[in-house]
Formats: sequence, C-alpha cells, structure tokens
Amino acid sequence: MGMLVNLRDWIDARFPLTKMWDEHLAKYYAPKNFNFWYFFGSLALMVLVIQIISGIFLTMNYKPSATDAFASVEYIMRDVDWGWLIRYIHSTGASAFFIVVYLHMFRGLLYGSYRGPRELIWLFGMMIFLALMAEAFFGYLLPWGQMSYWGAQVIISLFGAIPVIGDDLSLWIRGDYVISDVTLNRFFALHVIAVPLVLIALVVMHILALHEVGSNNPDGVEIKKHKDENGIPLDGIPFHPYYTVKDIVGVVVFLMFFSIVIFFVPEGGGYFLEKPNFEPANPLKTPEHIAPVWYFTPYYAMLRAVTIDLGPFTAKFLGVVVMGGAVVIMFFLPWLDKSPAKSIRYRGPIYKTMLTLFVISFAVLGWLGTQAPTDTKTLMAQIFTTVYFAFFLGMPIYSRIDKTKPVPDRVTG
Ligand code: HEM
Repeated sequence: MGMLVNLRDWIDARFPLTKMWDEHLAKYYAPKNFNFWYFFGSLALMVLVIQIISGIFLTMNYKPSATDAFASVEYIMRDVDWGWLIRYIHSTGASAFFIVVYLHMFRGLLYGSYRGPRELIWLFGMMIFLALMAEAFFGYLLPWGQMSYWGAQVIISLFGAIPVIGDDLSLWIRGDYVISDVTLNRFFALHVIAVPLVLIALVVMHILALHEVGSNNPDGVEIKKHKDENGIPLDGIPFHPYYTVKDIVGVVVFLMFFSIVIFFVPEGGGYFLEKPNFEPANPLKTPEHIAPVWYFTPYYAMLRAVTIDLGPFTAKFLGVVVMGGAVVIMFFLPWLDKSPAKSIRYRGPIYKTMLTLFVISFAVLGWLGTQAPTDTKTLMAQIFTTVYFAFFLGMPIYSRIDKTKPVPDRVTG
C-alpha cells in the first residue's frame, strides 16, 4: 500500500491524476435524485467503446474492396475464430447506439436538460447525433450487400437534387460516376478513422461542458443554488462511488438485452441486419423495396412525404430540405422553449400533450419509413411530419401560455 501511495504521489507531482479524479469523479457532485433516464449517458459511452473495440477486430479481417468486401465479411462470419461474435456485437451495437441515444435525447425533452445553462451540452450532443448518423451511413456500405449498395445510391442521389451544384456534389462524394470501389475505399476511411475521431472529440467536449455546469435532474432545479459552508451542493452526492456503482446496474441490464439479441436474434427480425444485405451488391439489379435501417426511417418518411414541385424546386429537393430541417430544428430547442418550468413534472397540459404527439409522430414516421409508399401512407407521413414540426415551431407560443405548476426550490426526490 505504501508503495502505491508513493507511486501516486510521484505521478501527482508530474501529472494531474488525483486532481482529475477528484474534479470529475470523487468530488464531482451530482444531484441525488437521478432516475433510470440518467443511465443512458454512461450507456452511450459504453456502446461507443464497444463499437470501437469490435470495429478494430473486424478491420483485421475485412477487405475494403468491391471484389473482396462481401466475401471477407462471410469469411469473418464462418472462418475467423469468434468472428461471428465480433460482427454481431458490432452490428447489434449500431442499433443499440441509436436506441440508447434516442432515449438519452428524450430524457433531455422530459426534463428540459437542453435549457440554459446547458445549451452547449445540447449543441455538442446534436453534433454527436449528426456524426453518429454519418458513421452509421458510411459503415452500412462496407459489407457491400444489395442494401448497402442501393441504400447508398439513394442517399447520395439526394445530394444530386440540390439545385446548381447537385450533380458535381454527388460525383465528388462518390468519386466516380457510379458507386464503386473508389466510393467503398473512402467510406472505409471515413468510417474507421475520420468520423470516430470526431465522435470521440465531441464526446469529450460534451462531458467537459456537462461538468462545467453540472447535471440537470428530474426536478429541473439547479442544485448549485443551495450549498453548505464548504461550497458543496446540499442536494448533491459525489459521483464516485454513488453513481459509478449505480451506473453498473444500467450496464448489467443493458448487457442482458444486448446478449439476448446477439445470441438469439442477431438479425433483429430483419431490422438490425436487413435480408437483402445477405446478397452481394449487384449494380444491375435494383431491390424491389429500398429502405434504410430502422433508425433512419423517421427521416426517410419525411423525405418521401414531400410530393409536389414548387417553382424551380423539385419535390425531391424539397424533401431533402424537410428531412434536413427535421434535424437542424433540434439545434434551436434551447431557444424555442420559453416555459418557466424545465421538468415535465411541473409543466402544464399543453407541453405534455405536444410531447406525447411528438413521440407518436416519430414512431409512426419510423414505421412509415419501412413501408412501400401508398396514397394513404403518404398522407399519413404528411400529417405526422406536420405534427413533428409543430412540436418545435409552436413551442415559443405554447410553452409561454401553458399553465405550469410552481417549481420547488430544492429537489424533491
Ligand atoms: C455518443 C453519444 C453520447 C454520449 C457518450 C453522451 C454522454 C453523456 C453523459 C455521460 C452524460 C451524463 C449522464 C447523463 O446525464 O445521462 C450526458 C448528459 C447529457 N447529454 Fe449526452 N451523450 C451522447 C449523446 C447526446 C446527444 C445526441 C444529445 C442531444 C442532442 C445529448 C444531450 C445531453 C444532455 C442535454 C445532457 C445533460 C442531461 C442532464 O443533465 O439532465 N447527448 N451525455
């Protein structure tokens, strides 16, 4: 023990080890009333690590070439020791990442966590979300299956719908007139190193911003307003050991569900690994029905909801604008919300109704995005896209007139 203490002191004289430990864990005070919604940040962090480690092992046997990619994935599945496990961890991890992150973002909506002074935490979060979508999109081309190929074809062609620069832009993204070996190579570079670096950097900033202002909580009150004589928030508890230990509960429950999927339903009923992707990419054969993976389908449904041309703008381009706008508008959330209460606990019936409608619209759009379009389904997509946007655009008005309950001064538990 004495030797360990000496080693620690030796390091502390040269590197801020204990200082950082205290600042971010042992003397970082978090609200005492976290509930299960607060598991998803640490779970997102864990899934990120799982994806990076399983990804490194996949890279050892994967070949980013149009002639070899599909076969190298089959080789990993059949011949590489534990290769099937590594691949299923990574493919299931992709869907798990979005489930965890969507729930993490929803917690922000429940408790007004995006509101001042946490605007930057939210903005870094939104940038993470964009990077995550890019990461998933680039990764999906790599197995070079039918859906990889045609999914990328659809998405890249969207850039082609932008007036004036569209054609040049999509050519630049592909690096070729069609999706080819060149495209696969650059997507590999982006998926394996460029975007992960950006993701990690953003996550570090996200957590630094969080630790600067401190966490919000289910009551949406600031614990820093009431401190004891030592400057410690009265409603705060040290992150370590209290929340390090509590977060392990979330980790164990998560790993149970994660393992069940990996070992018993690795294809996730065709939602996590899509059926057409078990067929090698064939540029001469368009699949009957092209749909993105489930986590993109709400946005895909919004893209297809726009069916009319407007002057010089094609319906396709306007669809891209609506789809992009659906993500961009979330960046503005901290400034759209004018309610005197942050937490859903003290908000009025209008916000509760709007949030419920928002969740329903997101889920229905997600389902519609998996379906082949019909007139009725397109109409539904139009209605629910409107509901989605109304949640954000109406917020400056309804959050002001909503009848809130008095917000307590201290956390209530
Ligand atoms: C790789 C993805 C992400 C990681 C690893 C991550 C990590 C974390 C961690 C560890 C926390 C503290 C624990 C918690 O409150 O749950 C946190 C808080 C937070 N995150 Fe994230 N996050 C990610 C993505 C996002 C996204 C996409 C958003 C929203 C756009 C977001 C918004 C927030 C907010 C607002 C808080 C503060 C919540 C509060 O104090 O009530 N995060 N994040």
